[in-house]
Amino acid sequence: MADQTAKLTLPDGRSCNLPVVVGTENEHAVDIRSLRADTGYITLDSGYMNTGATTSAITYIDGEAGILRYRGIPIEDLAEKSTFVETAYLLIHGELPTQAQLDTFSHQLTRHSMIHEDMHHFYAGFPSTSHPMAVIAAMVSSMSAYYPDCLDRSSPMDLHITRILSKVRTIAAFAYKKSIGQPVMYPRNALPYCANFLHMMFAVPAEPYEPDPIVVKALNQLFILHADHEQNCSTSTVRLVGSSGANVYAAVAAGVLALWGPLHGGANQEVVEMLEEIQASGSDVKQFVSDIKNKKGNRRLMGFGHRVYKNYDPRAKVLKSMADELLNHLGINDPMLDIARELEETALKDDYFISKKLYPNVDFYSGILYRAIGIPTPMFTVMFALGRIPGWIAHWKEMVEDTSTKIGRPRQIYTGQPQRAYVPRELRK
Ligand code: CMC
Repeated sequence: MADQTAKLTLPDGRSCNLPVVVGTENEHAVDIRSLRADTGYITLDSGYMNTGATTSAITYIDGEAGILRYRGIPIEDLAEKSTFVETAYLLIHGELPTQAQLDTFSHQLTRHSMIHEDMHHFYAGFPSTSHPMAVIAAMVSSMSAYYPDCLDRSSPMDLHITRILSKVRTIAAFAYKKSIGQPVMYPRNALPYCANFLHMMFAVPAEPYEPDPIVVKALNQLFILHADHEQNCSTSTVRLVGSSGANVYAAVAAGVLALWGPLHGGANQEVVEMLEEIQASGSDVKQFVSDIKNKKGNRRLMGFGHRVYKNYDPRAKVLKSMADELLNHLGINDPMLDIARELEETALKDDYFISKKLYPNVDFYSGILYRAIGIPTPMFTVMFALGRIPGWIAHWKEMVEDTSTKIGRPRQIYTGQPQRAYVPRELRK
């Protein structure tokens, strides 16, 4: 924070001094909280293109330089050296855990991995064609019914955090098993977080599943790279819902639903569907790119562009090299990867994409990795959600623990009709 002010002059000649807030990395913001009380003006910024909704000590992004750090640590280091569970601890608690803290955290996650048996009935109530995001959001929300202690705001926060983090992976794997008509596989306590998820997804009662260490590494990386991304549609939704005092399960369920959209977490599914479409139509990448540029069908190149990154998304870089490693290791020759590479190369040389600073984002290669792991396309956005849970929880916790938090309540500029009389029905034309 710095002792600076910005001066704003209004059309009627009045002016006011507004405090300037400076972050750790020298980011500057004009604090406009007193503006309305002092002048009657509000600020207008639909889409929150340039609005800081909060200060936060969790994640730092420099979109121009392509930098992403969790609690100060570059994600490249975390992707290479950490595990998802350790990174989750870092995001939620602010520091890397000691070995003892990590052991306790991992043990808690293992102990809370089952879901209440009664919740199994819910799956039967959904049509078999349900998108898994609809099922997961409903299941996370209904956890608040099974753990009503969450309604008591003084109940232990760590317990709810552990439950969500651990059970959501069971919920997701069960949703998949139900959708393909297989019996659900209960978690195995001997397996760590990601391996246990793979077991619940791919084991069948007749055959044990031994997770491949490189597949486990890839899943850890995918989850680590998705674990937080400061303010964004879903995380800000979690904070907004949580700011009303709604319980953590409700807030996280809202995050799941916000993530579902094709411009946010749904993009990874759309990327693979787009690559499949290009392949089905004869793999003419140049034609496809030209159609996008000419806004044919008003489509976008999915997996490209980002509100914040105006440079290569650092997550995409890590995933591109992980895709090479995993596909090589598994001996998979996926034509989707060749199309993706050609698409990237073509777009990065094209003036349209260069001038708009559109680079591959995290979703461009994640779908290819999920395919190689054996995750079906409709589950891709669920995978993003599983990875993002620690970030949502960390932001919810940060907000709840900040005693200065106010309920989120934006304003608007009304552009509708001025006051007018009610017209009786028989006189309306
Ligand atoms: N393909 C083609 N044109 C694009 C694309 C794209 N992927 N992204 C943006 N543009 C164009 C857009 O048409 C607009 O052009 P014009 O000025 O001629 O109207 C210009 O670039 C600016 O677009 P915008 O929608 O104002 O930019 P934004 O910052 O609001 O959008 C975005 C960011 C991610 C929604 C957008 O780039 C997009 O739709 N990308 C494709 C979907 C996608 O991959 N989403 C995943 C994002 S990463 C995961 C996450 O964090 O959620």
